[in-house]
Amino acid sequence: MSQVKFFYGGNVPLEMHKVRIVQKLELVPIERRLEAIQEAGNNTFLLKNRDVFMDMLTDSGVNAMSDKQLAAMMEADDSYAGSATFTKLENKIKEIFGMDYFLPAHQGRACENIISQAFVKPGDIIPMNYHFTTSKAHITLNGGTVEEIIIDEGLKTTSNYPFKGNMDIAKLRGLISKHGTEKIAYVRLETGTNLIGGQPHSLENMQEIRKVCDEFGILLVLDASLLADNLYFIKTREEKCKDMSIREIARAMADLSDIIYFSARKLGCARGGGICTRNKDIYMKLREFVTLYEGFLTYGGMSVREIEAIAVGLEETMDENMINQGPQFIAYMCEKLQESGIPVITPPGGLGCHLNAMEFVDHIPQSEYPAGALASALYIASGVRGMERGTISEQRDENGNEHFSNMELLRLAMPRRVFTLSQVNYAIDRIKWLYENRKLIGGIKFVEEPKVLRFFFGKLAPTSDWQSKLVAKFKKDFGDSL
Ligand code: F0G
Repeated sequence: MSQVKFFYGGNVPLEMHKVRIVQKLELVPIERRLEAIQEAGNNTFLLKNRDVFMDMLTDSGVNAMSDKQLAAMMEADDSYAGSATFTKLENKIKEIFGMDYFLPAHQGRACENIISQAFVKPGDIIPMNYHFTTSKAHITLNGGTVEEIIIDEGLKTTSNYPFKGNMDIAKLRGLISKHGTEKIAYVRLETGTNLIGGQPHSLENMQEIRKVCDEFGILLVLDASLLADNLYFIKTREEKCKDMSIREIARAMADLSDIIYFSARKLGCARGGGICTRNKDIYMKLREFVTLYEGFLTYGGMSVREIEAIAVGLEETMDENMINQGPQFIAYMCEKLQESGIPVITPPGGLGCHLNAMEFVDHIPQSEYPAGALASALYIASGVRGMERGTISEQRDENGNEHFSNMELLRLAMPRRVFTLSQVNYAIDRIKWLYENRKLIGGIKFVEEPKVLRFFFGKLAPTSDWQSKLVAKFKKDFGDSL
């Protein structure tokens, strides 16, 4: 779609696919939306889909599949051991990543469990550009410590820097000289960093990381869950790579990695996951955990139908016209919001459009969870379900003190090929209304707080009657409109 210019100008993302199966949506009235968010304890994870209009919680397991993926699922070869379907995926991995060994797992965090159990010992340090919730949880569970060494630019909410997901090489060297190589279990590079707004790293940065890893004999582990977006950004933002094909960039990244793992709920638009390596010793070390936690080596907790879909989905990821859909819709949404002065993370990244709650509701202190409050308010105003990515997504320290997040974001994920541009325009409209009425939004506080990954199940309540005031203003401005 990037190649299509509009005669009357404007930057309109054009879908290079057509919709052939649809799912009916409901937009329930605002009174029901208020009730629903209260029943959900102001936690968008706990909303029921029947109350949700646009589900922008995540792009995990909810991307639209292609006709070719669905067709392949019909051919799946069901068997406990030796499935021909598994061989198909193994061959596709070899072809794309040039890695001979592939271990299946039921999703991304299962890969993280296996890799952490195999390589992380108590006291170990794991440097990474930025953590993801589940990757950090597994490392911590095994006694390791995550050290985030993203470049300083990465933590600036607004910037023109094209690769805010880059790792700071000097900090990497600093960590190695401080702790010694034997304490560094591996270096983890998250491609398309999730929690700081889907920001990519460059191929050049990865080459520099590899040099340091080679110098000190440290493994480089690539979390490729958000690879599709990062490939697109390398192709379009990195001058040296503009003449490389998506396939060539993917191979160059794989050649720099010792281990690649991914959530196939994201990469390949299916459901599942896996770990790839070209090193037999690494494969042997990880293999026993697959049979222990996931299942036999030719399915690893996945249905064979999903394995078929992943093999096709990986191939489709090599098509620039497929992987550009997410980033271009996201850029469109961010640009429209920015035109109205609404604070979003820039440059637009992958995964979704990220509202900067610290600025959007700058009157709400971090102790009252600005991003969580904004998620609740946006759902009430629109039926759009986003995800809090701020302090609620962090854990308290050993003494029970809050760990205030670097950023307070409301993530509005853009599941690939799922929404039409008019739906995206609806979301933009309601966000603009909410921004004009932002002073009506108040804070929230925990009423039920789980100890681990509290953002999944925790329940919160508003600190005042701000929600009913927001509903009253909506009724005044929109009358009978949903
Ligand atoms: N790594 C990254 C970068 C992820 O974004 C995710 C999942 C995982 C690992 C874990 O994979 O869910 O298959 O176990 N991200 C989802 C999200 C949950 O909504 O961003 P999983």
